Amino acid sequence: MSTEQTAGTKARRGVPAALVWLVAVVSMAGTVGAMLLFQNIQTRKFEAASSVIRIVELTERTVDPAEWGKNFPRQYDGYVRTSDNPRARAGLSDSLPADEGEHEGDGKAVSKLDENPRLKTIFNGYAFAIDYRERRGHAFMLHDQRETERVKQRQQPGACLNCHASNVVAYREAGLKAGAPGTLDDPLLSASGRAQLFKGWENVNPMPYHEATGLVSHPVTCLDCHDPDSMRLRITKPAFLEGIAALARSDDAVPHLPSIERWRASGRKGEYDPNDLATRQEMRSMSCAQCHVEYYFKGNEKRLTYPWHKGLKVEQMEAYYDEVGWDDWVHKDSGAKVIKAQHPEFELWSQGVHARSGVSCADCHMPYTREGGVKFSDHQIRTPLANVARACQTCHQYTESEILARVDAIQTRTRGMMDRAETAVVDLIRAIVSAKEAGASDEQLALARDLQRRAQWRADFMNAENSMGFHAPAESLRILGEAVDLARQGVVEAVKAGGTAPASEARPAAGK
Ligand code: HEC
Ligand code: HEC
Ligand code: HEC
Ligand code: HEC
Ligand code: HEC
Repeated sequence: MSTEQTAGTKARRGVPAALVWLVAVVSMAGTVGAMLLFQNIQTRKFEAASSVIRIVELTERTVDPAEWGKNFPRQYDGYVRTSDNPRARAGLSDSLPADEGEHEGDGKAVSKLDENPRLKTIFNGYAFAIDYRERRGHAFMLHDQRETERVKQRQQPGACLNCHASNVVAYREAGLKAGAPGTLDDPLLSASGRAQLFKGWENVNPMPYHEATGLVSHPVTCLDCHDPDSMRLRITKPAFLEGIAALARSDDAVPHLPSIERWRASGRKGEYDPNDLATRQEMRSMSCAQCHVEYYFKGNEKRLTYPWHKGLKVEQMEAYYDEVGWDDWVHKDSGAKVIKAQHPEFELWSQGVHARSGVSCADCHMPYTREGGVKFSDHQIRTPLANVARACQTCHQYTESEILARVDAIQTRTRGMMDRAETAVVDLIRAIVSAKEAGASDEQLALARDLQRRAQWRADFMNAENSMGFHAPAESLRILGEAVDLARQGVVEAVKAGGTAPASEARPAAGK
């Protein structure tokens, strides 16, 4: 139990009384402001000084979250409960009854491919056409990765582990083995700690998955987000450190990441490093952006890379992939060179009004909660819609049903446009196939295939993103509108090359 938090709350309770007294005696507004600030500082100092009852000592070696749970039982309790998260509204077929659990009979998450057979056509020739499921709580991340047919039927690299395990210690141990300096007791963010982390990461990335996964034993844990000594948030994933430094070097405006703007304004010295420069509020999003992002594996070393070198927008990442010549696979039916999008939550959130207003991932997905007099962050990371009172109504003074109706409007519009975009992509694939069958050459098909790459990337980007448009509604509709346009242009090109335009299920009945 944390004396820090209890004491802190008591001190805060004292504020209103002090305020009334102050206002009565000292009527100068300036003085009141100064006193309040002082009071606030005193409260914080008190919180910082009176430390938690440390039942166990936490070190850079403490991977097991249960150990941390002895000092921080409330956070641990929430963390464990990610295994019984309620289902999100978004991304799930509306035809499934709402009370059906998130598991299918075989203990796996719901299949996206069964829900939406268009995806089998869109991903044909790639592992995602074999097995692709809805996400679920953090407690399942390692298990679900080990069990997916994408890993069982296809050879995958150790780089997959980056976002599915607690791997700080595993990387450091691998780094030490490969000759990095220091010991495991060095603070992670010391020069030797970092050297171990990066060296190990580079060594584990190209290992075969089944070998690499033997090095880890837990899903993301406390150590991956927190410093064991100060409990401050920290970034521990090398790929994020490299990705965010690349973003900082670009000229993409990032008003929602003020520490990057400051680093740029003060002469872009060295590399931008969030562990030194990011504000606490930025860290409340960046700790999630270590994993909830678009990625690819670069080169034979399978270096996990976030494609932010030109910016975070869908077309900027596409331009990066074009420049480095990256394709995830060649589409089995059409022969187009295509890219698979993966969970770009951070990138989409970045384009929305919440990010712009300084609202972090944790504000909605880990809202403060109270137990008795204790205030803490809800570590049952899940859909905020299970918890509108704490996740939204702290800022929005509407009824719960009104807030849900607003989310519903955004998600329903996005879903409708996404259906059209995916249908248009499937139509394009069919049109290219018919042109191929009619004898069109690769040269004649080049433009239609290029348009498939662009249309599919956009439609998939929105499907792979997990908020069904909520994180940035206008941006979502822009992306899907472009997807429809590009796919339909592609159909025109395929027809020019000798194909036929398929009868589309998206075509409205007469009069609609
Ligand atoms: C203003 C509140 C808000 C912010 C800020 C926010 N989200 Fe969300 N997020 C939502 C809502 C609402 C949904 C849709 C939930 C649903 O459909 O049930 C969602 C959905 C999600 C989902 C899928 C949820 C599930 O249960 O399957 C993920 C993952 C996610 N967000 C991650 C993030 C990340 C990462 C960030 C920061 C980069 C972020 N969110 C920022 C409100 C927010
Ligand atoms: C180490 C990588 C990693 C980090 C860090 C991370 N996540 Fe996740 N998150 C995942 C993975 C992987 C899954 C999917 C697990 C599965 O389906 O088995 C997931 C699932 C989720 C879900 C869906 C839960 C559900 O019940 O369906 C939400 C919401 C979410 N994460 C939000 C966040 C937020 C907010 C943060 C930051 C506070 C965060 N995540 C940090 C990797 C991560
Ligand atoms: C950059 C971080 C990151 C990397 C690298 C990563 N994942 Fe994930 N993975 C996530 C996140 C975040 C989720 C949850 C959101 C979602 O499902 O869209 C997830 C979900 C999953 C899921 C559950 C849903 C599904 O897609 O069926 C599986 C299985 C999975 N990943 C396997 C893999 C495999 C295999 C690799 C290596 C090829 C890999 N992951 C690499 C972050 C990552
Ligand atoms: C995915 C990242 C992530 C993981 C994993 C995680 N936390 Fe946190 N934790 C956060 C965030 C974000 C905050 C809010 C920090 C802030 O506002 O400065 C937080 C805050 C805290 C705090 C400060 C008090 C509070 O509740 O706000 C404690 C203590 C804490 N976490 C303990 C734990 C423990 C124990 C575990 C493991 C069982 C854990 N955390 C796992 C992200 C994480
Ligand atoms: C920390 C404060 C904060 C929290 C928490 C928050 N919001 Fe917001 N929200 C804002 C701000 C600020 C705006 C922008 C309004 C403005 O500037 O006029 C906004 C705008 C919106 C909008 C309209 C903008 C758009 O994206 O189209 C919706 C809808 C919305 N919020 C829903 C939610 C929901 C649902 C939740 C909970 C999951 C939530 N908000 C949580 C502060 C917050």
